[in-house]
Amino acid sequence: MQDVQRVLLSEEEIARKVKQLGAAITEDYQGKDLVLVGILKGAIVFLADLMREIKTPVNVDFMAVSSYGEGTTSSGVVRILKDLELSVEGRHILIVEDIVDTGLTLEYLVDILSSRQPASIRVAALLDKPDRRMVDAVPDYLGFSIPDDFVVGYGLDFAEQYRSLPYVGILKPDAYQEG
Ligand code: PRP
Repeated sequence: MQDVQRVLLSEEEIARKVKQLGAAITEDYQGKDLVLVGILKGAIVFLADLMREIKTPVNVDFMAVSSYGEGTTSSGVVRILKDLELSVEGRHILIVEDIVDTGLTLEYLVDILSSRQPASIRVAALLDKPDRRMVDAVPDYLGFSIPDDFVVGYGLDFAEQYRSLPYVGILKPDAYQEG
């Protein structure tokens, strides 16, 4: 892909990590009523792979929240665009995110979902950019901690492009500077 400067995480590396995360989640949630909450749209690829590595029954639902719009920086403003269809009261929630950046989205999600009386809330994130953190938010299940480069692929976009790349790549500055 010509807009990608280099591959940061290959398909194989991601698959290995997702398998490990799935195994850990399987062990931790044995016999528990688990609801995976995928955060649209970035989490769809990670969620699709992760759920197949969890060998205990799960329910799946989705939320969509706005945070970045089409820009490259977080506005800090979060609002619900699509809410859950399932009830989570008394159930174990695992929020599934592609990336934790400033942490504002996650802080908001944990806050709003806590008010619905779940049995527990944890977070699985494929990627973490700790350098950009503005609030105290730590994923319980983490794939990779990465530097503050502009990454796309495996669900992550820039202006709605590149989500379908099977790897995580660093975008060439030309690709986002031209807009
Ligand atoms: C991304 C990502 C997280 C959020 C993380 O979503 O999927 O939800 O940003 O950023 P934060 O930690 O700074 O809040 P985005 O708004 O880009 O939407 P998308 O998943 O539809 O691409």
